[in-house]
Amino acid sequence: MKQFLSVHDVSDIDALVQKALAYKANPFQDKTLGSNKRIGCLFLNPSMRTRLSTQIAAQNLGMEAIVFNVGAEGWALEFADGAVMNGTSVEHVKDAAPIMGNYFDVLAIRTFPSLKNREEDYSENYIKQFVKYAGIPVVSLESATLHPLQSLTDVITITETFKEKRKPKVVLTWAPHVKPLPQCVANSFAQWMTAWGNADFVVTHPEGYALDEQFTKGATITTDQDAALKDADYIYVKNWSSYEQYGQILCNDQSWMLTSDKLKTTNNAKVMHCLPVRRNVELSDEILDGPNSIITQEASNRVWAAQAVLASILHG
Ligand code: CP
Repeated sequence: MKQFLSVHDVSDIDALVQKALAYKANPFQDKTLGSNKRIGCLFLNPSMRTRLSTQIAAQNLGMEAIVFNVGAEGWALEFADGAVMNGTSVEHVKDAAPIMGNYFDVLAIRTFPSLKNREEDYSENYIKQFVKYAGIPVVSLESATLHPLQSLTDVITITETFKEKRKPKVVLTWAPHVKPLPQCVANSFAQWMTAWGNADFVVTHPEGYALDEQFTKGATITTDQDAALKDADYIYVKNWSSYEQYGQILCNDQSWMLTSDKLKTTNNAKVMHCLPVRRNVELSDEILDGPNSIITQEASNRVWAAQAVLASILHG
């Protein structure tokens, strides 16, 4: 593996999932693979799970992990080509990224979208510039449109929990939220589900919340949440702001929040969420604290997803 920015960097999803599950069974089997190698984890935005799981994964492989909270502690970066830097930005990515390329063997980056300019966000200009100027493998820790480490984790979690000899029905449902959130997790989950092909995949959301078709092609899409949830084996709950009316909140309808009552028509569905979650806004206490939630297991699997990806990159 040369980089990890999306599902397109993975030649065999199931093989990568099995690699992750092998690390889960035996975390230190490759404890010298990353000896004398260093990963730089750059966060332009906040994180808990991604930051900690990537550090643990690197350490399990004998790799040194250095975390740099660029957004809070670093110089304000400029990404525009030809910029006259007489404003707030202090250092151009053209100057910063090659230095990181010298300091590290792998560069991992979190860079959220602005949610103001769709064309700019969906160009993935920020992470692409790190790829262009760092000259070393780049791993997305969540970019403007995608969160591939989360999605790999989600496929791992479905694989290890589904024991029947048929495809599971997996439903991605929009949920309410008080703030406009990126489409990254939903885009990425849809991209991985459709590429994986081992699930009957349904997306449900209110009017005005359709995701970019490049990620949902092949999925069943409906604005009828009740119909979508019927016979579901997995329900992936996530809020996202509108892609069509970019970055806007168009709906605050609390009837979209998943409750135990809504599970009645499902196949005793397991409930997933990437976290962090706003309790009793996005997801009810009764679901989060109930027997159908596999959210903690899902978040724990972030370590094995990161370890499988880093090992694949170290193998080249
Ligand atoms: N799911 C996820 O990426 O969590 P963090 O934002 O805490 O890293």
